[in-house]
Amino acid sequence: MAAYETQTHDYDVVVVGAGGAGLRATLGMAEQGLRTACVTKVFPTRSHTVAAQGGIAASLANMGPDNWQWHMYDTVKGSDWLGDTDAMEYLAREAPKAVYELEHYGVPFSRTEDGKIYQRPFGGHTTEFGEGPPVQRTCAAADRTGHAILHTLYGQSLKNNAEFFIEYFALDLMITDGRCTGVVCWKLDDGTIHVFNAKMVVLATGGYGRAYFSATSAHTCTGDGGGMVARAGLPLQDMEFVQFHPTGIYGSGCLITEGARGEGGYLTNSEGERFMERYAPTYKDLASRDVVSRCMTLEIREGRGVGEHKDHIFLNLMHLPPETLAERLPGISESARIFAGVDVTRAPIPVIPTVHYNMGGIPTNYWGEVLAPTEDDPDRVFPGLMAVGEAGCASVHGANRLGSNSLIDLVVFGRAAAIRAGQVVDRAGAVPATNKAELDRALDRFDGLRHANGTVRTAELRDQMQRTMQADAAVFRTDKTLAEGCRKMEAIAAKLDDLKVTDRGLIWNTDLMETLELTNLMPNALATIVAAEARKESRGAHAHEDYPERDDANWRKHSLAWVEGNKVKLAYRPVHLEPLTRVEEGGIDLQKIAPKKRVY
Ligand code: FUM
Repeated sequence: MAAYETQTHDYDVVVVGAGGAGLRATLGMAEQGLRTACVTKVFPTRSHTVAAQGGIAASLANMGPDNWQWHMYDTVKGSDWLGDTDAMEYLAREAPKAVYELEHYGVPFSRTEDGKIYQRPFGGHTTEFGEGPPVQRTCAAADRTGHAILHTLYGQSLKNNAEFFIEYFALDLMITDGRCTGVVCWKLDDGTIHVFNAKMVVLATGGYGRAYFSATSAHTCTGDGGGMVARAGLPLQDMEFVQFHPTGIYGSGCLITEGARGEGGYLTNSEGERFMERYAPTYKDLASRDVVSRCMTLEIREGRGVGEHKDHIFLNLMHLPPETLAERLPGISESARIFAGVDVTRAPIPVIPTVHYNMGGIPTNYWGEVLAPTEDDPDRVFPGLMAVGEAGCASVHGANRLGSNSLIDLVVFGRAAAIRAGQVVDRAGAVPATNKAELDRALDRFDGLRHANGTVRTAELRDQMQRTMQADAAVFRTDKTLAEGCRKMEAIAAKLDDLKVTDRGLIWNTDLMETLELTNLMPNALATIVAAEARKESRGAHAHEDYPERDDANWRKHSLAWVEGNKVKLAYRPVHLEPLTRVEEGGIDLQKIAPKKRVY
């Protein structure tokens, strides 16, 4: 058994991750007087939410008519009818409240002439249940909205006495008699091991974009929550749905916000044609992301890509007034200069669809409680464990997320988790004792990786995984590429047993850290490609060329993936079709959100 010096901490709640969802949950817990710790592998304001640019969706109706039912309709349609109706209703209804709370906490939103929160158009957000013109629903702080939210929530959490454990890496969950009772962490700057016992653990660890070769995600987006959950024998949900953002900068993958098209930017091919007019005559460049990414890919495939290799597309902003660029899009003007050498007032930005978001994740209900579905009870709650933000799958985004529904997901469900914890956490009860067997198991695994002495370097194996995912689980998929991808990924995952870690140290050991992250990325990647191979239809971001149509009769269901070693076991659970509120009580008319062909 591995011997490590450990320190023990007892809390009502431990939140793992300090992005938008983690901080909103932390703040909500601390505000209610729950003893709350937030454990994070990077400094809170460096979490990936800092990179969220364009804004946060809420039907405030500051720029024209809007209401939560239209927002819900757009979210249902965006999800290609795979989202859970109760969760999508909760998101759309609670969104305005959650944004006004952010405003009162101090988020410096951009303003209209009359002092209201400024809102811009984003793809797939419409009026009149998809029959009217685009709506300005995305509340923005210039093009640095995530940055503004993160700084505000961190300050408020400190003010409410939440305790932060910064640059601590979560190794594994502790599970005791079928409930989560804590998490084991490695403190990066002094190498000590810390055991956090808690009545509730909240995973807010973000997505796993770095399972792919080119992503807008930070290098820290390594699916750590999904990895821990998979090792605890719990499933991951809807992993086959990976979003490609239409406008990653060609070459670097750096994000150019959809807000650029919201402010009037447009895409062109090598013939100078605004090709989106052909594919999406009504909403054009503001069609849903999966649609725009596919159209760009088709243009490139058909020889109308731009550049020397005709392998990308142009985003044009030159026609926008310089004051719009300076006021509304200062960040991306700078990114375009630094990462593409482009002055946006004079030349188009070279862009390409780039991995951006994971719709799938750890299955939860709309309170953020993690589900451990069985055949008899597909909504069974796993006690003591919650997941929020991109790590979780509530499921509001279904098969495709709308732009700016991510930031609102973070705050609505971070807040919901806090509300629920306030109801279910027994404040007077004792914090669970350390589960010694679980601690030993986590430390044995950690020690085994620290001393791994096989033949494959971590960076080499990560590269193989990323290139395989990029090639075989891409914007368009076929039976052939997916079967080939599954075969390759199984072989790649098997090599985790043959890793070589060269640094045995415990302090700032980046080789070990990247190895631990790779062991988290791998189950996420495996679940993604295996679930994609199994789904014989096209829906949202899963564009299967051998099955080009959506098949509601057979496939309107959530996939569940249990990962063990390099093998994945799949099952399915039904989509929630019941809304929270009946129409006679002011709820949405279900006829309005009945499945139909998804055109923009
Ligand atoms: O394009 C963007 O600003 C990204 C926003 C989002 O993914 O929600």
